[in-house]
Order: sequence, then structure tokens, then C-alpha cells
Amino acid sequence: MCGIVGYVGKNQNSLSVLIEGLKSLEYRGYDSAGIAINNQGRIKIIKSVGNIANLERKLDKKILSNLGIGHTRWATHGKPCLKNAHPHQVGKVTLVHNGIIENYEKLKKSLQDEGYKFKTDTDTEVACALMDKIYKETNDKLLTMQKVKEMIEGSYALAIIFADDIKNLYAMRKDSPLIIALGKDENYLASDVPAILQFTDKYILLEKNEYAIINALNVKVYDNNFKEIKKQILTYEGSREVAMKNGYEHFMLKEINDEPMVIKATYEQFINKNLKELIDNMPDLAKYNNIDIVACGSAYHAGLVGKSLIEEYANIPVKVELASEYRYKKNFGNDSTLTILVSQSGETADTLAALRKAKKEKSATLGIINVVSSSIAREADNVLYTKAGAEISVATTKAYLSQVLMLALIAINKAFVNGNISSKEEKDLLEDMQKLPQEITSLINRKDEFASIAKQIYHNNDVFFIGRGIDYALSREGALKLKEISYIHAEAYAAGELKHGTISLIENKTPVIAIVTDETIAEKTISNIKEVKARGADVTFITTESLNKKYAQSDFYDRKIVVPSTNKFFQALLTIIPLQLLAYEVAKLRGENIDKPRNLAKSVTVE
Ligand code: G6P
Repeated sequence: MCGIVGYVGKNQNSLSVLIEGLKSLEYRGYDSAGIAINNQGRIKIIKSVGNIANLERKLDKKILSNLGIGHTRWATHGKPCLKNAHPHQVGKVTLVHNGIIENYEKLKKSLQDEGYKFKTDTDTEVACALMDKIYKETNDKLLTMQKVKEMIEGSYALAIIFADDIKNLYAMRKDSPLIIALGKDENYLASDVPAILQFTDKYILLEKNEYAIINALNVKVYDNNFKEIKKQILTYEGSREVAMKNGYEHFMLKEINDEPMVIKATYEQFINKNLKELIDNMPDLAKYNNIDIVACGSAYHAGLVGKSLIEEYANIPVKVELASEYRYKKNFGNDSTLTILVSQSGETADTLAALRKAKKEKSATLGIINVVSSSIAREADNVLYTKAGAEISVATTKAYLSQVLMLALIAINKAFVNGNISSKEEKDLLEDMQKLPQEITSLINRKDEFASIAKQIYHNNDVFFIGRGIDYALSREGALKLKEISYIHAEAYAAGELKHGTISLIENKTPVIAIVTDETIAEKTISNIKEVKARGADVTFITTESLNKKYAQSDFYDRKIVVPSTNKFFQALLTIIPLQLLAYEVAKLRGENIDKPRNLAKSVTVE
């Protein structure tokens, strides 16, 4: 949700660092982009509408500059147009902002009363004007930042240049992420680590109530009393290549191809030879009587799969809530509730707010998080890291898969502690788990099969996904994947509920993707598939090898996808792969911008 980069160095590199950094932050938004650089002692601002490539085309590459800030925008206040693009400049202050200033209207009114005129529709310009006004009054930059912090409400990460001090960058944040990265004779600011990985792997995390002053040789961070703080220097431990496409046409495809590796890295943290290791390596889950899973988007869909597994096999009630709903409703959590926050970025504003609410209500909290040291990871009582590595494609694939695996491991842990897994089952389960990377690879290798099914679907305006239980949870993720990158209206429905209204939308050749992997209710779902088939639907049937043997007749579908049968805890991890690849192939046939679908952003740090 908006990306920020900053550079200050002895070299005159700022243009290329800002552009390269912004390119790797485009997953945070790409409505417009802009930079402000030191151009021979004056601040030069260049902006453009659309993505970073548009901005790059506008730049004179020959300009040398030793300091600058850059921004890629996901519009919140004011439409995506040139005037609303960042950086914003008022008086002596030029800045870029990620987040939302909630009280900007009130502040704007009082600044207007004092004579400030506004050129844009953004909340950011108001923060900029406020900073200018206070700086004029105090002539002290740290004090200005502190006073501005006290006056603005909402979330923000701000990178600032003061016109009378073009040797330093200034920064502050609350609830939107910001790191300071450390190079040799040059230092950087960024919303996220991928932006600086090609320059350095050393960084520090800026916290709320901290203020940073950064130049080529020094980074100084101050607390709210202006006392200098010694910050811990972190080293990024992932591979630099993960942040690159590695020859794949799209990040989404590359990330699907990472899935076998991600699954292995995720389970190997906890479990290799026996289930006892799982209990030793995870926080103690035995003491909780009920679980709330809270998340947004695909992470919420992972939660729905987790609910099916935990309730069915560990016999514990689970509620799955959308974080944006949970944060404003009554939740009945108490000290025997475990609230699990699932988030790839660990920064999603609603999920972060839900975490804080759960803590207030005395529930224990556990984050299932991908980005190390992100806000949710730091604030939750405990954290389990999915090992998906950097995910760039806006539509999540590998991070979702690792979330599903982590919830399956929690279900196994609980089921084992409750005595619901025999030693024979334990042996099978471990064997099945170790086969997963190979089975996922074999599904990915069937890409052409899914591409030819995509040809049957891509010209439609509506697609329906149906299933029951865990297959319904997968249908919801399959539909989301398809709609977000192909812009086809896709709707997931509980198969048994179709007859209460939605079946009226089925007509000749309406595409229906029907998922049947749960043996216990397969018959029932197949009856529902027959109901839509009888009304002309064009049915793609997705099932497992073992069910395929049982339901060999082909009178209720037009084509089928058979996925390997695996342990009940892991089946979802295989079944989702064709749905991810199908969405990818459909979007490709339609010529859409797969990695950066319109109107979306990957890290949603606004409410
Ligand atoms: C956005 C992304 C989704 C993601 C959701 C939650 O909508 O496009 O892919 O599932 O945010 O993000 P999180 O980082 O909390 O998992």
C-alpha cells in the first residue's frame, strides 16, 4: 500500500537506486510514481501516472544526484493522477508518505485558515503543510517531527527532505513499515527489504515514536525524548534471487514454481522424523479450548481450510473471521482462546488492529507470518514463520500454500496431543508429508493440461466454483485467484446451497469448476454437480486419484483434473495447484497484467 524509497550517498547514484528500489516495491501499488532529488542544491520533483516504467521514461538518466526520495502510490485520498502523485512539497518540506492521515480534513481546514493553499486532494499534502508550518515556528527538525506526530492521527511512514538541509534524509513512522538500510558510504530508506537487496542486506527497523536522520556516513535514530538509540543491525537471510523473476515470464509463475521448495522449508522447521518434534518446536497449543483465526483475502481463505482440518481432526471449535469485521464486533475471546492472525506481509492494517483487539480481550495470540520482524510478528505473543520467501506477484500463491501447511501442522499437533493419531497413521502422515514437494512439482509440470482447459474458460464473463467443506474453502480461493487477475466474475458457492438461488444463473455452457476431494461427502457433491450439468453447465471436475477410480463414469462433467491422493491433512495443498495455474493461464490468454492487477496492492496497510 504505497512504497517508499530513499537514498543518500557519496556516489551520485540516487536516480538509479530510487528507480530500482521502486520497481521492487510496485507490489505495494502502481497508480502513480514520483521522485524528489537533490539537483545541484535544489530539489527537483518528477512524477508520472501509472507504473515505474512510465516514470523512468520521463527521467534524464544523466542527472547526477546524491540524495533523493521516491514513491509508488496506491491511491486512497484523491484519484490516481499527476497532481496527487507523491512527493508533495510545501514550503521547505518535501515528503513521501505511506498510510492514511485520518484527521487530515480538520488539519487542512485550520491550515487553510492560516493561509495555506492546497493543490492536491491528498491527505499527504496536509501532513506536508503541517510540517512546514511547525518547522517555521520551531526551526528544529526533530522537534517538528515530534510535534507533527502528536497532531496527526492514522498510520504513516514518512521520508522527508528539508530544503535547508539537503545532506540529510529524515524519517518517522507509525503502523506503516519503514526500514533503514546500510551501505558503504551510502544509506537507504525503504518500505520493505526487497527494495534494497541489490545494494545491501544490512538494515535496521524503525519503530513508532522513533525519528531518523540519515546521511551518507551516519544513521542516527532518536527516541521521543530525542535521546539517541543504538539500533540492532539485521541481516536479510533469504536469497537475493527470490526477489527476481529467474527467467519466468511472470512473478506469479515463478512463485508457483517455488512452491515445492517453500513447502519443504516450512515443515522442516518443525518436523522431520516424528510428531513429537512438532510439539517440541511449536508454542504449546494444548491449553486452548477454542481457536479464532483472523485474516484478510487469501490468508482468510487459508484460515477456512485450517478450520476444516482443526475441527474435523483435532475436535476443537474454530471461528474464522475477516479481520475488517472482527475488529468492530463482539468476539467472545477469553484466556482459553487462541487467536491466530494469518498474514503474508505481517502489516495488513485490519489484521494488525484485530491482533491488538484480541490482546485487549485477553486472548492468547499467534501470528502465522511470512515477513520476518513485521509488525504482527513483533506484536503477537508467539509467531510461526511460513518460509515462502519474498512474494512479489500481487495475487498470492506460495505464501497462501505455506499458510495452509502451517494450519495443517497446527491441526496435526492438536490431533496428536488429543490422541487422535495412531502410530501407524503417524508413519503414513510423515511419509505423505515428505512426498509433497515431488507431488506439487508433478502438478506444476502439468501446466499445459491446465492451459488447454483455460482455453475453454477464458472467453466467459462468469465462472462458478463449487464444493463442500474443505473443497468449498478451496473453491473460494480458486474463485478469488481467477477474478483478481483475469477480471472474470468468479463466484464460489457451497455445492449444497446452489439450489437456494444461485442455480438460477446456470444456463447453457455456464462454466462450473466442481471440486470433490473429500470422500465422506463426495456422493452429495456429485449429486449437486449433476444438477448443474442437467441445466447445461460446462463442468470441469477436479478430484483425487482414489475418488477418480470410484467415480469412473463421465456423465456429469466435460473434462476433469485428477490430482494425486494424499493424507487428509495435506490434500488441499495439492488440489489448489491446478486452480492457481488455471487462473494464471486464463489471465494470460486474456492478456492481463498478471503480476499487477488493476486496483490492487499486495500489502494493504490502510483500513
Ligand atoms: C491483499 C493481497 C492478498 C492477501 C491479502 C492479505 O489483498 O492481494 O493476496 O491475501 O492482502 O494480506 P496479508 O499480507 O495479510 O496476507
